[in-house]
Amino acid sequence: MSEAVLDVRDLEAGYEPGVPIVRGASITVRKGEIVVVLGPNGAGKSSFIKAISGLVPITGGTVFLDGKDITAAPAHTMVRLGLAFVPQTENIFPLMSVEDNLRVACGILERREIPARMDEMYAAFPDLVRQRRTAAGNLSGGQRQMLAVARALIVHPKVLVLDEPSAGLSPKFVSMVFEMLAGIRKSGVTILLVEQNAKAALAIGDRAYVLVEGKDRHEGVASELWNDPVVAELYLGQRPSRASKGGAA
Ligand SMILES: Nc1ncnc2c1ncn2[C@@H]1O[C@H](COP(=O)(O)OP(=O)(O)OP(=O)(O)O)[C@@H](O)[C@H]1O
Ligand SMILES: [Mg+2]
Repeated sequence: MSEAVLDVRDLEAGYEPGVPIVRGASITVRKGEIVVVLGPNGAGKSSFIKAISGLVPITGGTVFLDGKDITAAPAHTMVRLGLAFVPQTENIFPLMSVEDNLRVACGILERREIPARMDEMYAAFPDLVRQRRTAAGNLSGGQRQMLAVARALIVHPKVLVLDEPSAGLSPKFVSMVFEMLAGIRKSGVTILLVEQNAKAALAIGDRAYVLVEGKDRHEGVASELWNDPVVAELYLGQRPSRASKGGAA
């Protein structure tokens, strides 16, 4: 079994003292995997990955990145440590051009590597090439998410952590985002993905966890989880119909 890139043990976190939102959640993300975190609204999915990323105070448990304890690491050190977090919103600078958005994301790279790395991102996300001079705020929703992901990937993170990259997008862009993530994973990048779009996320994921009331309630192989009755009841509020059988494959 491949090594854990991200190992989160019994994490507790919250915004105010005495009000835990994440209540003892544990997950493991192994090298090269896409791990999906599902769960009902308000389950604490965003809080969980924000806490991992240093953005919500942690009151208990541990976060290991590549074997190193990063539980107490401040958010601004995460990129250097190898964890790139793409928040659900406000993940680009809307008034800056696409090119400048990428350039300012290069912070930790050696100056001489930057031009080649920018070219690699344009090669990976050809849609962005035509738009390099466009203000990022004028991109389509799908292209905006592409730019946000490119900004995160440009520094070669050990793990890419994404909060609902398909949220608010039209169906066409939703499939574009999932295709993009599947492609990124093929290139060897490890991904932790929070999604509401359970079916599409499970279709590209390797394993998944269901978070309920701040705790991991259920874990499984992504392709099997869609048809798991426990998940259906916890998450979807119903058992999947016969017609949806194998839907995540
Ligand atoms: N900045 C904040 N300050 C205080 N409480 C917050 C804050 N953000 C979220 N919460 C609370 O934390 C709980 C979990 O919210 P969170 O956004 O993590 O859930 P979620 O699973 O991501 O939900 P969704 O599916 O709607 O994105 C909610 O009760 C929410 O009200
Ligand atoms: Mg959320």
